[in-house]
Amino acid sequence: MIRYTQKFGKEWKHDHKNFAERKVNMDRNAPIGVFDSGIGGLTVAREIMRQMPQERIVYFGDTARVPYGSKSQETVLRYSRQIIRFLKTQGVKAIVIACNTASACALETVKQELDIPIIGVIYAGARTAAEATHNGKIGVIGTEATIRSGIYTREMQKLRPDIEVIGKPCPLFVPLVEEGLFHDSVTDEIASRYLSSLKEKYIDTLVMGCTHYPLIRSTIRKVMGDKVNLVNPAYETAIELKNLLERDNLANKCDVDSPSSMYRFYVSDAEEKFKLFANSILPFDITMTKQINIENY
Ligand code: DGL
Repeated sequence: MIRYTQKFGKEWKHDHKNFAERKVNMDRNAPIGVFDSGIGGLTVAREIMRQMPQERIVYFGDTARVPYGSKSQETVLRYSRQIIRFLKTQGVKAIVIACNTASACALETVKQELDIPIIGVIYAGARTAAEATHNGKIGVIGTEATIRSGIYTREMQKLRPDIEVIGKPCPLFVPLVEEGLFHDSVTDEIASRYLSSLKEKYIDTLVMGCTHYPLIRSTIRKVMGDKVNLVNPAYETAIELKNLLERDNLANKCDVDSPSSMYRFYVSDAEEKFKLFANSILPFDITMTKQINIENY
């Protein structure tokens, strides 16, 4: 069994060697699997597309079972395993868990079970925030499951033990985003209620610890003011993926093709709604979305 850690430390280097030896024949042209409970992971997919335009992507949004954030760790782990099994049937060469909740609940376990590299979004976000803070006070907003797991606090304090991390679950943000209320007075009102306790703590850095939240970034910015650094882990996650693919000789060297042949999108429900959303978030119109029954995997 191959262990794969996100941290480029000793253990990673050792495992990396094993992995590279065993996977010399892995197809570099194979797609990267990216998944989320719904549309939030598109913010990560968009960043991968921007930073690695030559990479193919198979995206899965679990639109039938969103939200994950209010579910138990066991349930999110079960869902994640099913999605990973599905993505493996698509011949992916690596997987990005583009969901903080699934990263918090499942990454540590599933990476022990897989023979391809898998990363989540939390380590990248934690590291960026720990590097960005000046006063050592960092806020993290996310789903109930992510905040309850305490994973951001642990990761940041491993890097800088003096950091104070203040977590705040914002459970209504996901449905507001899924409803498309990106610029709406209801979203403004909920955001000022959720974020007021963080403002009172004088944080100088705020991690958007849910991949749905960058879609209401302007509202969060308005409430928090210009002086607070807003961290979107998507950017750093794409860099982490790029490094990983290069180290494992898995980076695609082929020419960039049209989006319709580079990207495939799968959902577990409401295909048309997903397509509309994706088209408002991505820099091109998606043509192919397919609904699958994820419970079959
Ligand atoms: N977008 C997901 C995250 O990053 C989860 C939202 C949800 O399903 O609750 O946590």
